[in-house]
Amino acid sequence: MENERAQWGSKLGFILAAAGSAVGLGNIWKFPGRAFEGGGGCFLLIYLLIVIFLGAPMMLTELSVGRASQANIVGVFHKLGHRNFSWVGWIGVIGAFIITCYYAHVGGWVLRYVVGYATESSSIYSDSLGYFYNMLGLHGDGTTSIPWVAILFAAIFMAMNAIIIIRGVESGIEKFNKIGMPALFILLLILLVRSVTLDGAAEGLQYMVSLDWSKVNFSTFLAALGQAFYSLSIGMAIMITYGSYLPKTENIAKNTVLICAMDTMVAFLAGFIIVPAVFATLGESEIGKGGGFAFVSLAKVFDQMPGGTFFGVLFYLLLLFAALTSCISLVESIVAFLTEHFLWERTRTTIIVCVIMFLIGCLYTCTQAAVPLKGIWFDAANGVTYPAFCDFMEYLTDRIMIPVCALGCCIFVGWVWKPESAIEEIEQCGVRFGLAKVYAILIKYVAPVAILAILIMSFAAGMTLS
Ligand code: PHE
Repeated sequence: MENERAQWGSKLGFILAAAGSAVGLGNIWKFPGRAFEGGGGCFLLIYLLIVIFLGAPMMLTELSVGRASQANIVGVFHKLGHRNFSWVGWIGVIGAFIITCYYAHVGGWVLRYVVGYATESSSIYSDSLGYFYNMLGLHGDGTTSIPWVAILFAAIFMAMNAIIIIRGVESGIEKFNKIGMPALFILLLILLVRSVTLDGAAEGLQYMVSLDWSKVNFSTFLAALGQAFYSLSIGMAIMITYGSYLPKTENIAKNTVLICAMDTMVAFLAGFIIVPAVFATLGESEIGKGGGFAFVSLAKVFDQMPGGTFFGVLFYLLLLFAALTSCISLVESIVAFLTEHFLWERTRTTIIVCVIMFLIGCLYTCTQAAVPLKGIWFDAANGVTYPAFCDFMEYLTDRIMIPVCALGCCIFVGWVWKPESAIEEIEQCGVRFGLAKVYAILIKYVAPVAILAILIMSFAAGMTLS
């Protein structure tokens, strides 16, 4: 069985694929909005601490569990002899499933913007907010309609995923990441310069570096935790799947640091590009949904730079690829689980699962504006509330499933499989793991207590649902 599992084509291949999974829409579409809602500077600080003390040890844990067991998310717990922890894997797969439903749709919006900038950039420049809402089925005169165009593009995006997964992940992704990632990074640096020098951007920049603790509560911590794990692709056992394809010679501790650093850098860059641009474009009072930031506010940046339309197309194209590499990691781990656990055939499974996820995702796009379907939420302070269904999908994964799956993983490794086993696996590459003691304390005590406390306190003290 072990021999049949795929392995990464090259050393660099894995880092790039894992970084490709981590860097995606989460960094550019979600992070700036969350940072804004969380009060700017304070959120950045909390986020950074969470990445260092919880995110990195969690990633290392998932990679070592995956490589030690060479199995899929649920199989891992069977293989290591602890079937009673399978629920952790199940939450991971279901979480990945729900995320993919909406991820592919936002990927579709990005594709829409590639085409939009290429063919009708002037309409984006003249009314960037209207253009975005219009895509989601909310028109200038207040009427709504089913957003067929967005849905069509989401279908194309999902089909691209399915095709790549069916044809084999490795070579294509590895190749893209080698060029695409550095290109994205350089482009972000260029955009940063343009954005922070826009008229009115200084206020936004100020917002991102000032510490205003009055906006921070427990739910900010939960939002930062969920966002950090989401962005690093952990708490959904993706890294378990990716680790399982990894040769023993690979130094996973070093890789973890690299991936976390890269991912966080891209997120911060995006935050410092987009939030100042939001201030310059919309002004604080008019800012609607954080989710639209990456689409709406950048129009001004592109409009006011030489060759802006070209950079616009390039930016959304790179974002599209970044989204694809992330989405592929999600679909891949779902498919790996289904084909290994139920012994289903790979191609057919991929197609069926992708179609189902696309259809459920239509609810996400439609409930942005056109359809008033609600989800349901509960916290002790606010009681039962009914957020829009699209937000509900994100809360469910970011604020419950990801933290709970991560909690399960660290309890499993900290107390059942034991940090010593993880450390032994980490040292398989022949290099001593200098931070072994710190790691053991973090995974055994700090991470589970912190995650549990943040979860409980934010449900008890009330959520800020925006
Ligand atoms: N980390 C990805 C992003 O930031 C999203 C993702 C989440 C991918 C979970 C895989 C697993 O966009």
